[in-house]
Amino acid sequence: MKFDQPAGQNPIDQMKVVGKATDRIDGKFKTTGTAPYAYERHDVAANQAYGYVLGAGIAKGRIRAIDTVAAKRSPGVVAIVTTLDMPKLGLGKMNAANLFGGAEIQHYHQAIAVVVAETFEQARAAAFLIKVDYARAAGKFDLAAEAGGAKPVPGDSGEGSGGGSEDRRGDFEGAFAAAPVKFDQTYTTPDESHAMMEPHATIAAWEGDKLTLWTSNQMIAWTKGSIAKILDIPAESIRIDSPYIGGGFGGKLFVRSDAVVAALAAKAAGRPVKVALTRPLVINNTTHRPATIQRIRIGATPDGTITAIAHESTSGNLDGGKPETAVDQTKLLYAGANRLTAMKLAHLDLPEGNSMRAPGEAPGLMALEIAMDEMAEKLGLDPVAFRIRNDTQVDPGHPERPFSHRNLVGCLKLGAEKFGWDKRNAKPGQVRDGRWLVGIGMAAGFRNNLLMKSGARVRLGRDGLVTVETDMTDIGTGSYTIIAQTAAEMMGVTLDKVVVRLGDSNFPVSAGSGGQFGANNATSGVYAACVKLREAVAQRLGFNSADVLFEDGNVRSGNRTETLGKAASDGDLVGEDSIEYGDLAKKQQQSTFAGHFVEVGVDVDTAEVRVRRMLAVCAAGRILNPKSARSQVIGGMTMGVGGALMEELAVDTRRGFFVNHDLAGYEVPVHADIPHQEVIFLDEADPQSSPMKAKGVGELGICGVGAAVANAIYNATGVRVRDYPITLDKLL
Ligand code: MOS
Repeated sequence: MKFDQPAGQNPIDQMKVVGKATDRIDGKFKTTGTAPYAYERHDVAANQAYGYVLGAGIAKGRIRAIDTVAAKRSPGVVAIVTTLDMPKLGLGKMNAANLFGGAEIQHYHQAIAVVVAETFEQARAAAFLIKVDYARAAGKFDLAAEAGGAKPVPGDSGEGSGGGSEDRRGDFEGAFAAAPVKFDQTYTTPDESHAMMEPHATIAAWEGDKLTLWTSNQMIAWTKGSIAKILDIPAESIRIDSPYIGGGFGGKLFVRSDAVVAALAAKAAGRPVKVALTRPLVINNTTHRPATIQRIRIGATPDGTITAIAHESTSGNLDGGKPETAVDQTKLLYAGANRLTAMKLAHLDLPEGNSMRAPGEAPGLMALEIAMDEMAEKLGLDPVAFRIRNDTQVDPGHPERPFSHRNLVGCLKLGAEKFGWDKRNAKPGQVRDGRWLVGIGMAAGFRNNLLMKSGARVRLGRDGLVTVETDMTDIGTGSYTIIAQTAAEMMGVTLDKVVVRLGDSNFPVSAGSGGQFGANNATSGVYAACVKLREAVAQRLGFNSADVLFEDGNVRSGNRTETLGKAASDGDLVGEDSIEYGDLAKKQQQSTFAGHFVEVGVDVDTAEVRVRRMLAVCAAGRILNPKSARSQVIGGMTMGVGGALMEELAVDTRRGFFVNHDLAGYEVPVHADIPHQEVIFLDEADPQSSPMKAKGVGELGICGVGAAVANAIYNATGVRVRDYPITLDKLL
């Protein structure tokens, strides 16, 4: 189905099932421990052996020799494959560093060997007996030290809302110089780790030339294509299966070493092998969110009208890696005729940087939205009013492009009202509650809505059951549930009549999970397949498809009514299709918006920060399932608190690795850190986005929260911290 003009009235608009707060249909499997994750697929292949991955002990250089003699003699060892046994393997999609093969070391904990044994403990013990002779080379590990030599980023720069390096509109320098009120500050965000619960894990089995990988991955089709490239085997010989995923956060958008070494190890062992990356390997062997240094300049008239705005960001990566696209939202969020956004990239020999939890906007807004708070204060304006004054209904860099739907102002106004913004004391450091200094802060949230082709197959059985198959993934987000809701709405059945099967590369290729594009696109693919199935049902029953109604498990046309199952009495009916998009998103900018409000307490003696209340008001098109959408948003808000207050990979700038490589040293918020959250969704539908009239909403939850926390801390204390995370030492 080609979607190239705004959606008209369609069956989803009934909103009998879609749009209802619905428990996740996979919830009971997960909470009872019966949803098997990749490492737990004990039943998929007999005689599974355990693989243990050894990571490089240097950050840059070469391996001269690997001595496996003692390891091979260790009890239970079945096979050992080292990186010297293999040529340098090809790169998969979005991989910057090689995952295995060859003598060259590009970053710390790059995989250099896998030991296969009868038990995990035997494999681990043997791995520690491997002796590696390294020729270490000097590397670059310190972004601040390398920033001066960073190079402008050419061309398109990644997965986010995208665009090239330097983007200029009007005359930024001239307008900034002439502006009556000027602001110029630099902010830093640290390297961060996804810290998903489930590590990267894969079970690999060969049957002749056919390879099956039971793995944990957000993007099934990318992974299939990447494995074909890396192992140089035909894609048709590969099956990827990933029905349950214990969090991805961007760290499982692409193939990582667990899948590659499991395949190589299974081949060497001649039997299925399972591999899970240990927590230190998840942090140093896989990817992370790169640190940024962001300079923001704003010029305005005394009444608070922005006349010039610039956002420049520097980040680092391995050669072939991409920048953190932290300037993306600044192209679109506020009006202003004279604009500059630019990115620079420094070469670093740290583990590779890549997408993590709203890449681009999440760290970009951490800077921009403090800057807006600082500028509002400088202008003597209320921060909410300053943002509303500079709202824009068109892409400010391309005024001929309106937003498809934009109600940031509605989010800010309703949020201010619900949160009690009018009670805020604009003068910092004035409000006390016992030993706590109390402050409130806010920020705008912004994340783009991306359109991606997405396919599905829907089958109707004679029992009236509707089975949906798509390689879409559920990374803990609720995909199973919103897909079931979509099929139920389209076919006129209750949710219990829908079976959803996901994450298998034998199913039609979907958009996958990433960039908050999963929900809208994957359900639209299911919508398209259901349109086909409805036609097949009508035809089979001899109904005129123009007036046919699907409701209450029945199909009606004129004065005839049949049960839905009747249509399949002579055999299953199948509808298969993809949603494909025209250039609607080129003509109209599609984005999602939020107002984030936070109250904090800061201990007057120790400077310990406690978040007391949070509110997000979101404008993100039709909300397919308010319950799972709320869960997404409160999860994002929690990550925003992590980014503001805790999360930081500590870089050893001499040896080039992340030191706090476990969940004891890498701190994330826990329940006790998050006492109260509220989410309000504005009631809207965006006919430009898809037949579902929905948009992404998950990552919107994180975008802006970090700055709202920072602004609340400033309001509480009068101390402005521009260097995340805002730990107590920076407040004393
Ligand atoms: Mo997301 S960081 O685009 O999986």
